[in-house]
Amino acid sequence: MVSTESPRILTVSDLRVSYRGVPAVSGVSFHIDAGELVGIIGPNGAGKSSTLLGIVNAVRSDSSETSLGGVDLRRMPPERVARTGLALVPEGHHIFGRLSVRDNLRLGSTARRDPRGLEEDLKWVIELFPILDEFANRPAGLLSGGQQQQLAIGRALLANPILLALDEPSLGLSPTVVDTVFAAIARIRERGTAVLLVEQRAQQTVAAADRTYVLNDGRIVMDLAPADAADSALLMKAYLGS
Ligand SMILES: Nc1ncnc2c1ncn2[C@@H]1O[C@H](COP(=O)(O)OP(=O)(O)O)[C@@H](O)[C@H]1O
Ligand SMILES: [Mg+2]
Repeated sequence: MVSTESPRILTVSDLRVSYRGVPAVSGVSFHIDAGELVGIIGPNGAGKSSTLLGIVNAVRSDSSETSLGGVDLRRMPPERVARTGLALVPEGHHIFGRLSVRDNLRLGSTARRDPRGLEEDLKWVIELFPILDEFANRPAGLLSGGQQQQLAIGRALLANPILLALDEPSLGLSPTVVDTVFAAIARIRERGTAVLLVEQRAQQTVAAADRTYVLNDGRIVMDLAPADAADSALLMKAYLGS
């Protein structure tokens, strides 16, 4: 049966990434439907970042399918992948420290597929992260880590992506700021943008996501539902590998 409710937006089939012949991602397959929040968790070195970088072609990758909204992303330069509607906030988020917060946000809008709606999106981003308005004229490098993460997410949202991919957005943040970031992710999804959330925070991610894939040693070893967040033994097993 064909569903018009939630079309598939991302399909990844048999994704592989190697560095100098050493495999980091060994045949990862998953999908994301419209409106979904999908998690990928796993220990350090599991291949989470390489999976994201391989999808957007920021590193060399191979797959039998990588497509966004039916568009083949394979061999597409990363800037074009962004323009096609996949906004990646990489680990460490790469904001431009010397540019003002406002100018950093403006850069995000250059990847829009459609210039219409920018004002509306800007309003929504500022409502989501009020500090981006408060510190609009401040050099981004002077913001705290949590504020820079909010800026990076806000900038990505101004591209009005089909899919927002976040690589460990809570890394190095204080517990309060982590909650701010997770609350924002929930609101982004409620507004209709699909989210791929890569995290090491297993419990919080599994609870928030529609589906969470556990990555270990370059392979998906498990997929978890929100109810599994309460099962700490299962989460522990997912992490340590079986
Ligand atoms: N640029 C790189 N060059 C060589 N090896 C890398 C590079 N990036 C990652 N790796 C290796 O690939 C594996 C997966 O890394 P990564 O994707 O960063 O994992 P994660 O994001 O889950 O911590 C690790 O063994 C890591 O050391
Ligand atoms: Mg990583």
